[in-house]
Amino acid sequence: MPALLPLLLLNLAGALASSADVDQFAYQGFAAANLTLDGLAVVMPSGLLALANFTSQEKGHAFHPAPLLFFNDTTTNSTAVARSFSTSFVFAIVSLVDGLSDQGLAFVVAPTSNLSSANGGQYLGLLNATNGTASDHILAVELDTIRNPELSDINSNHVGINVNSLISRQAKPAGYYGVGDGAFRDLTLNSRKPMQVWVDYDGQARKLNVTLAPVEVPKPKNPLLSEAIDLSTVLVDTVYVGLSSSSGVVPTHHYVLGWSFSLDGPAPPLDFSKLPALPYVGPKPRSKILSIALLLGTWTGR
Ligand SMILES: *[C@@H]1O[C@H](CO)[C@@H](O)[C@H](O)[C@H]1NC(C)=O
Ligand SMILES: *[C@@H]1O[C@H](CO)[C@@H](O)[C@H](O)[C@H]1NC(C)=O
Ligand SMILES: *[C@@H]1O[C@H](CO)[C@@H](O)[C@H](O)[C@H]1NC(C)=O
Ligand SMILES: *[C@@H]1O[C@H](CO)[C@@H](O)[C@H](O)[C@H]1NC(C)=O
Ligand SMILES: *[C@@H]1O[C@H](CO)[C@@H](O)[C@H](O)[C@H]1NC(C)=O
Ligand SMILES: *[C@@H]1O[C@H](CO)[C@@H](O)[C@H](O)[C@H]1NC(C)=O
Ligand SMILES: *[C@@H]1O[C@H](CO)[C@@H](O)[C@H](O)[C@H]1NC(C)=O
Ligand SMILES: *[C@@H]1O[C@H](CO)[C@@H](O)[C@H](O)[C@H]1NC(C)=O
Repeated sequence: MPALLPLLLLNLAGALASSADVDQFAYQGFAAANLTLDGLAVVMPSGLLALANFTSQEKGHAFHPAPLLFFNDTTTNSTAVARSFSTSFVFAIVSLVDGLSDQGLAFVVAPTSNLSSANGGQYLGLLNATNGTASDHILAVELDTIRNPELSDINSNHVGINVNSLISRQAKPAGYYGVGDGAFRDLTLNSRKPMQVWVDYDGQARKLNVTLAPVEVPKPKNPLLSEAIDLSTVLVDTVYVGLSSSSGVVPTHHYVLGWSFSLDGPAPPLDFSKLPALPYVGPKPRSKILSIALLLGTWTGR
C-alpha cells in the first residue's frame, strides 16, 4: 500500500501540470509558438507577429490552437459560471505615414479559431456586419485608430469592449492612470511605440477590466475600462482566444511582440528584454503632402 502513495502523487502532479499547460500560455516572441494563423498574419523570422500588412481591406488572425473550457464544472452547482481569465499582450501600430494609420486590432474570444469569413476594414476581422447576433458569441477588446461614425466610435484613438457587435458597449480614449498620482495620461495607439494591454475577467464578480500602458510602465492599478458583464450569457462552453486585425487603405503594420493568457489566475508576466525588436521604419516622410501623394500613388498603382 505505501508504494501507491508516490505513484498517486506523481499522477496528481502530472494531471496538475498538464491542466496548467492547457489553461495557460506565454509567448515572448512567436518564433516557436504554435498558433493558428490566417489571412495576412505571419510570424516574421525575428519572432514578431505581423497581423496585418499593406494589403487593402483585408484581415489577419492568430489564434491559440487549443480550445479552452470556459465554464466551471456544474456538477456541484446547476448554474454554470464563466471562468475568470487574464490575458496580456504587447503590440505596436506602425504606419508608414506620419499621423495616419488604418483600422486596428483586437483581442477576441470566439467559439471558433476560424474567423476567416469575417470582413476586414472597419469590421476588424471579427464580424460581417456592424451588429452581429447573440449566436456569434464573440467578445472583443478593440484598439481602434479610425473613427467610424456608423459604429458610434468616440474618436480615432480608442479602446473598446465589444460583444457581438462593432459598436462598443464601452469605450475610452487610449490612455492610463499614472501609478503615482493617478492622473490620466493620454496615449497614441498609432505611435509606432510598443504598448501593453491587460484584459482581466473576474467570473464571480462578473467584471471585465481593460488596462493599457507604455511597455516601460508597470500595470496601472486602475483600469482604463471596467465593465459589469456576465460572460456566461455571451460565450459558449468551448472557446478559442486570439488576436484579430484588419487593414484599410493607409499602409499600416499591426505587430504583436508577446502574448500571455491564463484561466483562473493572472496572465504570466511578459519579459520585455526577451521580446523581438520592432523593424526600423525608415526616414519619416518629408511632409503630409508628400505622404498623401505617396499614398495616392499606392492606391492608383494597385
Ligand atoms: C501581406 O501578407 C500576405 C500573407 O503573408 C502576403 O501574401 C502578401 O504578399 C503581403 N502583402 C504585402 C503588400 O506585403
Ligand atoms: C499545435 O497545437 C495543436 C492544438 O493543441 C496540436 O494539435 C498540434 O499538435 C500542435 N502542433 C505543434 C507543432 O506543436
Ligand atoms: C451557485 O451559483 C450561484 C450563481 O453563480 C452562486 O451565487 C452560488 O453561490 C453557487 N453555489 C455554490 C454552492 O457554489
Ligand atoms: C475556415 O472556414 C472557411 C469557411 O468560412 C473554410 O472555407 C475554410 O476551409 C476553413 N479553414 C479551416 C482551416 O478550417
Ligand atoms: C460571414 O458571412 C458568411 C456568408 O454569409 C457566413 O458564412 C459566415 O459565417 C460569416 N462570418 C462571420 C464571422 O460572421
Ligand atoms: C446596430 O445596433 C444599434 C443598437 O445597438 C442600432 O442603433 C444601430 O442602428 C444598428 N446598426 C446597424 C447598421 O444595424
Ligand atoms: C477591476 O478593477 C477594479 C477597480 O480597480 C478592481 O476593484 C477589480 O478588482 C478589478 N477586477 C479585475 C478582474 O481585474
Ligand atoms: C472555477 O474553478 C476554478 C478551479 O476549480 C476556481 O479557481 C475558480 O475560482 C472558479 N471560477 C469561478 C468563476 O467560479
